[in-house]
This record gives sequence, C-alpha cells and structure tokens, in this order.
Amino acid sequence: MSGVAIVTGAGSGIGRATALRLAADGYSVMCNDINGARAAIAADEIKAAGGQAAAIGGDVSREADVAALYAATLETFGACTLLVNNAGHVHQAKFVDLAPADFDRMFAVHVRGTFLCTRAVLPAMLAAGKGAIVNVASQLGQIGGVELSHYCGAKAAIIGMTKSLAREISKQGVRVNAVAPGPINTPLAMSLSPEWRKAKAAELPLGRFGEPEDIAATIAFLASDQAAIYVGQTLGPNSGDVML
Ligand SMILES: NC(=O)c1ccc[n+]([C@@H]2O[C@H](COP(=O)([O-])OP(=O)(O)OC[C@H]3O[C@@H](n4cnc5c(N)ncnc54)[C@H](O)[C@@H]3O)[C@@H](O)[C@H]2O)c1
Repeated sequence: MSGVAIVTGAGSGIGRATALRLAADGYSVMCNDINGARAAIAADEIKAAGGQAAAIGGDVSREADVAALYAATLETFGACTLLVNNAGHVHQAKFVDLAPADFDRMFAVHVRGTFLCTRAVLPAMLAAGKGAIVNVASQLGQIGGVELSHYCGAKAAIIGMTKSLAREISKQGVRVNAVAPGPINTPLAMSLSPEWRKAKAAELPLGRFGEPEDIAATIAFLASDQAAIYVGQTLGPNSGDVML
C-alpha cells in the first residue's frame, strides 16, 4: 500500500499506533498532534523503523493550524490520499455540572476538527478521483455514557457526518467511513474514573479492553482497497460491548 496519510492526534494511543501501522504498510505519514513534541517522537519512531514520516504540531479545531498541516503534508510528501481524523480528548461531568466551555471544547476538537481537516484534504481527493477518510468515533456515540453527554454527542455527530459525506461524495472515488472503538488501553481511557473502568471491563464479553493496535488494524483495513465497498460504515472493534 502506498499513499500519503495524515493522522491527527498521532502523538499517543490510537493515533500513534495508526501512524506506525500505516507507515509499516507503506504510507508516508504526517503526524499531527496538539502536543508537537509527541507528534515528533511518533514520526521519529517511524523513521527509526525505516518508514517515511514527518510531524507538525497543531490544534485540529483551529483553521490556521489545519491549513498549516495540509500545506506541510503537500510540501513534504505530496497530496494527501488518506486522512485519519483521530485527535480527541475525554472529560466526564454530570449533565447539570457541564460547563458551556467544556461542551464547546468537546465539539470544537471532535466535530469541528473533523470538519476542518476533511474540508482541507477533500478538494484534492475529489480532483484526483480517489482517497479515503476514516473518522474515529466511539461506541459511546452509539449507546451513550453516564456523565459523558458532550463526548457522546460529539461522537454521534461524527458518525452522522461520516454517513452524510459518504452519501455525497462516494461516486467521486472518495470513501468515508468511521470506526467506533470500545474501551482501549490508552492514556485517554486511563483518565476515566477507576470505577467506570472496573465496571466496564467486568461487563465486556471478551473480558478485556482492546489495544491501540487493534484499532489501527481496523483503520488500515478501511483505508485499503480490500474495503472498496465499505461506504459510510461505522465498524465496531469493541470487545463485544456493542453488537449491532
Ligand atoms: N481509548 C478509548 O477507549 C477510546 C474509545 C473510543 C474512541 N476513542 C477515540 O480515539 C481517539 C484517540 O484517543 P486515544 O484513546 O488514543 O487517546 P490519547 O489521549 O492517547 O491520544 C489522543 C491524542 O490526541 C491529541 N489531541 C487532543 N486534542 C487535540 C487537538 N485539538 N488537536 C490535535 N491533537 C489533539 C492528544 O494530544 C493525544 O496525543 C479519540 O478521538 C478518542 O475519543 C478512544
């Protein structure tokens, strides 16, 4: 597999694993993260393993940062053929305690960030008549979660946006899909309360959380030609937590 991939939030967890996996599959990978130093470490790991990578810091919710990400990718590797909208954070609060600023930030990073990055890469993909976009949602966007209204709302919005864009552009050669992971062993999941994690692990049919590499494999599949007829789908690597 060859191509040029942008992975947002590539400095940690699922994004890092995805960047490494795509590079191993033959992609040139631009690693974005709001923590530029961590993005650079991921790119260095890829290069140390013989892959092609570069890094740029930036906040996906900021138009100027996304423009810089797109420009750096074009200049370094050429036109982006795969975008993985992965950057995100989690925050727990009872609905009545949810501050508007926390709500706005959640939607800015996840929904606006996905919109801005997609809008940046899409014209060139459409002009070329090929490309793939994989959005990282969450199973919590499908089933909801206690004290996670803003997170779940944002993830459900990403699923809706994925379906809508897929309906709009698939005939032009660009495929858009989403992945809705269950609980995965990353720093993000570790930031949720120990009570939540314990209860969640106990109820999983598989009996354990997934690993970032499990999600990277799903993303690599959705990006590949093997997924040629996957359009607007939301795949669920989730330890059996949600069965649709
Ligand atoms: N870990 C899970 O259980 C789980 C489950 C379902 C979905 N997800 C989703 O997977 C994605 C990756 O999460 P993770 O678990 O790997 O978390 P993580 O915290 O390990 O990694 C997220 C990365 O995104 C970066 N980031 C955050 N905000 C950003 C922004 N505005 N611009 C650019 N980069 C930003 C962070 O700095 C971090 O490096 C997120 O969208 C998350 O919601 C995670």
